Amino acid sequence: MKLRAQAYSKVNLFLGVGPRRDDGFHELSTIFQSLSLNDEVTLRTEGSQPHTGAWVKGLKVRGLAHNEVPEDQSNLAWKAVTAVVNAYSSEGYVPHQTVHLDIRKGIPVAGGMAGGSADAAAALLLADRWLSTVHQVPGLGEERLLAIAAELGSDVPFSLLGGTQRGEGRGEKLSAVANSTRWWWVIALSRIGLSTPKVFHTLDHLRDTQQIAPPQLDCSGIIAALASGDPLKLAAELHNDLAAPALALQPALRRTLEAGTEAGALSGIISGSGPTCAFLCHDRTHADAVAARLRDSQVADTIVTAYGPAGGAEILE
Ligand code: C5P
Repeated sequence: MKLRAQAYSKVNLFLGVGPRRDDGFHELSTIFQSLSLNDEVTLRTEGSQPHTGAWVKGLKVRGLAHNEVPEDQSNLAWKAVTAVVNAYSSEGYVPHQTVHLDIRKGIPVAGGMAGGSADAAAALLLADRWLSTVHQVPGLGEERLLAIAAELGSDVPFSLLGGTQRGEGRGEKLSAVANSTRWWWVIALSRIGLSTPKVFHTLDHLRDTQQIAPPQLDCSGIIAALASGDPLKLAAELHNDLAAPALALQPALRRTLEAGTEAGALSGIISGSGPTCAFLCHDRTHADAVAARLRDSQVADTIVTAYGPAGGAEILE
């Protein structure tokens, strides 16, 4: 059996970070939007030997910065397959085959765009389809898949659903936000990634030791701007509490943000924990023009355009 799935990247239009919780995570008030940059994951069943332990026999990564993605059990897509196999096995539906995973990266690695989470979300759908087909039983269903996704990582539930969603808790509690506009973005990718835990840790440190702006958790302005469909209103509301620590760790990002507005973008933000920068534009033509100017300024390694919202993870039939 060979199955393919696709999952999209994300940008946080608004990312408010509350205090650190006892479990080490931070309470978030965020608005996610999925973007058209995507990864594709293929699951192939192999051999017929019943296997104990490792149900994924191998994993290969191709495409953008593929060298930086692990090809072993530490890969989130690998973990996702194992989690789904465990869910089926606990009900007596043990697989009779192992699988191989192929990942085609289109989403920057360690870029704050949920690339690893997208792969995990695609792998969850693939493993669910594989095992429900083999055992001729219904799939796990959205609620169960979302619960497994939340265990894999804070952004994986969003990667499953996509669209425009409000995220609370550590980002896993989702509710859809009304939006009927296609927004156009220019995305500036940096070759040097930023570690998400390190960015959160730096935020705690800055809050403990310096006067930095208090958390901004009220995202009603962005929700109203999304409903208005007006890019100028949305541009005025973009916000990211992780920008200060990301800029502290990679000061050159300040220049990238400036270059985006100099190139004519309406506004720029660091995406999630960075270092990717996302620039909002009026429309596709405007985004193409801003991207061309930004390429000339040579502040980032790669400049692409993308639109949002894109969908959630989906099986490609
Ligand atoms: O959930 P995920 O594995 O993506 O989180 C990676 C790291 O980011 C966590 O270990 C934690 O350090 C940080 N994080 C956080 N608060 C969140 C989400 C992530 O502190 N709400």
